[in-house]
Amino acid sequence: MVRYSRLPFRALCRKFNVDVCFSPMLISDSFINSASARDADLRSNAEDGPLVVQFAANKGEDFAKVAQMLYGHCEGIDLNCGCPQRWVNALNYGDILMKQPELLADIVLQARRAIPDSEFSISVKTRVFDDLHTTIEMARRIEKAGATMLSIHGRTHGERDHPVRIETISTIVETLSIPVNYNGSIRTREDAQLAYESTGVGGVMVARGLLHNPGLFDDRRLGDPEVLTEWTKIALELGIPYSSYHKHLMYMLDKVTTRPETRVFNSLQSMLQAVSWLRERNYIYC
Ligand SMILES: Cc1cc2nc3c(=O)[nH]c(=O)nc-3n(C[C@H](O)[C@H](O)[C@H](O)COP(=O)(O)O)c2cc1C
Repeated sequence: MVRYSRLPFRALCRKFNVDVCFSPMLISDSFINSASARDADLRSNAEDGPLVVQFAANKGEDFAKVAQMLYGHCEGIDLNCGCPQRWVNALNYGDILMKQPELLADIVLQARRAIPDSEFSISVKTRVFDDLHTTIEMARRIEKAGATMLSIHGRTHGERDHPVRIETISTIVETLSIPVNYNGSIRTREDAQLAYESTGVGGVMVARGLLHNPGLFDDRRLGDPEVLTEWTKIALELGIPYSSYHKHLMYMLDKVTTRPETRVFNSLQSMLQAVSWLRERNYIYC
């Protein structure tokens, strides 16, 4: 998740049963050409695995180059063909690639050729088309190009909070041999279990559900004090900016605090203020 699934948040999710973390989407071109962009965007450490680093790419050479740069440093790279945002599509990144199946396949193929070691995962994330046949053709093509995993956000380009197309995901699972991940509107561990059982997917990918409840896969409730305490410890250990610590807590406390509490919490200006406020109300233990 852009701005959110950075090292500290990944460390928190890993403490509470998340198996594999994805980095925020990085722009392949900037990653290749700018050392400062690499340092700013991709902080990691020895405990930060399994890690998949996700990219926006629109050229096979770029995706192959980032594969070479990251081989041996993480478990895999992912091509984001699920992002529908206008500025992303304007650069020929994101889900606009779903409409260019030859280019999409070539991007995957070039990275796979650059790193033939199948232990290094080269995966893709897509949305779905309205038409099942077109979706299946795209998924087949991605597998044929050498992808090791496919994550499906079960909505079309134009859909936001529409129901996830569970049948389409099931059909993709039945058709492909590689692991397929389910994505979309998972809020609880039960939701994840149901998605897993009803489609036979290899994994369940969660974004907003984890922002609100990083303990979701550990059956924690929203606002669990152990989760909030762990977040505070990680923030202090890794030295993250206050704005990032606070923004994550706004998500984690969103459905937990009363309205007047939320107003006060949102106005706090420093780590010291926030930690004292949380401690006084028993939201954290440390
Ligand atoms: C703040 C935010 C940032 C996101 N950034 C990314 C990203 O970098 N890469 C990506 O593939 N999807 C990104 N997404 C989309 C999610 O991965 C996911 O496909 C979508 O939110 C639906 O899943 P969910 O219901 O679990 O949130 C982002 C979503 C949010 C809310």
